[in-house]
Amino acid sequence: MEPENRIKTKKLPTEPYKGVRDFYPEQYASLKYIFDTWRSVVEKIGYVEYEASILEPSELYRTKGSENEEMVNEQTYTFVDRGEREVTLRPEMTPTVARMVAGKRRELGFPLRYYSIPNCFRYERMQRGRLREFWQLNVDLFGSRSTAADAEILAVSYGIMMAFGATESDFVIKVGSRSAINGLVAELGLSEETTKKLFALLDRKAKMPGEEFSHALSDLSVPESRLFDHEPPEEISKMLEQFKDAGINNIVYDPSVVRGFAYYSGMVFEVFDTHPENNRALFGGGRYDNLTQLFDDEPLPGVGFGMGDETIRLFMEVRGLIPPYKSPTHVYLATPAPEMAYELQTFAGELRRAGVNVAVDFGEKKLGDQIKTAAKHKIAWLMVVGPDELERGQFTARNLETGHEETLAREQLPDFFLNQQ
Ligand code: HAM
Repeated sequence: MEPENRIKTKKLPTEPYKGVRDFYPEQYASLKYIFDTWRSVVEKIGYVEYEASILEPSELYRTKGSENEEMVNEQTYTFVDRGEREVTLRPEMTPTVARMVAGKRRELGFPLRYYSIPNCFRYERMQRGRLREFWQLNVDLFGSRSTAADAEILAVSYGIMMAFGATESDFVIKVGSRSAINGLVAELGLSEETTKKLFALLDRKAKMPGEEFSHALSDLSVPESRLFDHEPPEEISKMLEQFKDAGINNIVYDPSVVRGFAYYSGMVFEVFDTHPENNRALFGGGRYDNLTQLFDDEPLPGVGFGMGDETIRLFMEVRGLIPPYKSPTHVYLATPAPEMAYELQTFAGELRRAGVNVAVDFGEKKLGDQIKTAAKHKIAWLMVVGPDELERGQFTARNLETGHEETLAREQLPDFFLNQQ
């Protein structure tokens, strides 16, 4: 094209939209590792996977006068569609799953164990571990009021952490009680406004200096001693004892754990990372006994949690627990003869039919550059295939990490590569 004919437009940036992520294969492999680990733990305990659309009618998130008003008004991606309907990109999955369960409650068997790994969107101020788009494991158990159901949800949370390679000292599960705090609020006669402020303050507690917290608490006329120096509710202390008997020692009572959403009504919990460089809440959840009331008058108890992919990734990163990337391609075929490109595909086809994953180079660059390409792709094995190799029926497989070489006959190749996996 003549230079003067070139369209002079401003080039677009290659960065993704603010607050969302691109996943190149290596990052996507880590994400898939997280998903696989989640799935294997929860399916073992009988949870089955569901999905729904990212789009929901905005009214699903509008509970008037609730603490999640901030979420609805300021933290959602909401737009009006061409049919004048207000639509929201889901900021969380709980209202969706409540809608789904309420919609089919006659057909579903309870207790019902459901899980999902939705993509969620929140228009948040970004910081480490807080994004505008994230994946969130949702594990929910419907139809039981038993504290054994609460305990199961805590055990699932614990089990997931251990499956990621954590030890008990790496994290702590802090359990609070909405009913205990609601009791205290009633006893102290706090107004709705003050209660909201108290919950917001408790939600921020971990992120502020102790002294500042104490001051803010006395500003609300809530005596610190009343808040913290009480025995845990009986059902919680019994549950924690059971965990201790089972040899689990990092689940503790913490009355300051209340969680932000208005729908929680009983046990609530938050899992914290104990690493000094990553001292943060990892995930949390709790019991909600009234959520399906948005849809009908029959209450349906539920308990569950949501766990983001980014917080657990950071947890693993600071501890070197993310498994190193391995290309799914077993072997890369390089060739000194570009005219052999079609023949090379036929040869590769043989290996592929035997179960080996094979990528071919078209031979347009020098052999050395083709090998560099294979190394950039982190493919473990390389074979140079030219007219000589095909004629002799002898091939040299080279491991690109160790430099180790093996000479093999054509019929030995499939077993050789499959045994390396
Ligand atoms: P949540 O505390 O809002 O609860 O979110 C749960 C977890 O999702 C967080 O602890 C974090 O791991 C992840 N998460 C939330 N927002 C972000 C963000 N902006 N960036 C990255 N990760 C994030 C809920 O969503 C409840 N619906 C959970 C639930 C399920 N309760 C009962 N069932």
